[in-house]
Amino acid sequence: MNSLIFIFLVVLAPHVVLSRGIKRSEEITLFDQNYKVTWGANHVINQGKEIQLTMDNSSGSGFASKINYGSGFFHMKIKVPGRNSAGVVTAYYLMSEGNNHDELDFEFLGNSEGKSYSLQTNVWTNGEGGREQRIQLWFDPTSNFYEYKILWNQHQIVFYVDNIPIRIYKNNNNIGVGYPTKAMQIQASLWNGENWATDGGQTKINWTYAPFKANFQGFDVSGCESQTLIDPNCVSDHFWWNNKSFWQLDSTSQKQYENVKIKYVTYDYCKDRERYPTSPIECLH
Ligand SMILES: *[C@@H]1O[C@H](CO)[C@@H](O)[C@H](O)[C@H]1NC(C)=O
Ligand SMILES: *[C@@H]1O[C@H](CO)[C@@H](O)[C@H](O)[C@H]1NC(C)=O
Ligand SMILES: *[C@@H]1O[C@H](CO)[C@@H](O)[C@H](O)[C@H]1NC(C)=O
Repeated sequence: MNSLIFIFLVVLAPHVVLSRGIKRSEEITLFDQNYKVTWGANHVINQGKEIQLTMDNSSGSGFASKINYGSGFFHMKIKVPGRNSAGVVTAYYLMSEGNNHDELDFEFLGNSEGKSYSLQTNVWTNGEGGREQRIQLWFDPTSNFYEYKILWNQHQIVFYVDNIPIRIYKNNNNIGVGYPTKAMQIQASLWNGENWATDGGQTKINWTYAPFKANFQGFDVSGCESQTLIDPNCVSDHFWWNNKSFWQLDSTSQKQYENVKIKYVTYDYCKDRERYPTSPIECLH
């Protein structure tokens, strides 16, 4: 793109929009305001309001938020690699630093051309994961940008795909179920997961299709800044995502969630009796 036009779009356009009286929240937040590239810098294209991560046989790439958060309603628009993406994992997640970490994951498990993507979610608390669930998406995530969101407050964690809840993890800490206690950083990455991601690791990456490309948009963050442990301020109802209306799903969302469970869930650790002969406690609630 001509650099003058680019400067106009990025720097001036939001103000043009503002002067027409459109509300402030539509102002576009640029990548560099809240995020930084963390690895594979020469495999990242930063266009300000959009980032492209690429992966070839020399490297993948990733980015992360500049600060950590102790609660929030996080979102990212993502377009995942198309064509043959077997073994390629696109991830969008929250993760704490150090030992016994907490982590909330979206992982797109690439597939052979023509086969649909699986979207895996996982919840790690105090260094323990193993809570995988997978759904088949009802659209083609390679064809366009779709929005993926994670609500995290002291009552529940909800994963959303385009505003439809696909997974709920309740805070059942009072009966001994792990729940995140540490501040987390927002992360995104494109990496080689051929050892496990597709057909349990049997279908490897076909490098003929490299470089693989994943695109990201939406760099504004609704989150409460926090250091290592969750700042007590982050649980206050000054933050809208902690408000009572976010303690549980409303009836419309609940119906959408039930529908996803019936139609699109392809794997649920709660139902995997071979792996967990006794159901994990959180699965009973
Ligand atoms: C990586 O890919 C490049 C370009 O396709 C190719 O020339 C090179 O031989 C590959 N390297 C390895 C280690 O496979
Ligand atoms: C990789 O893809 C190319 C192009 O479709 C195909 O010719 C080749 O056989 C594939 N390689 C493997 C190992 O499947
Ligand atoms: C919390 O939500 C209620 C309605 O659900 C609303 O009336 C109230 O203003 C909200 N409070 C805050 C602090 O956002």
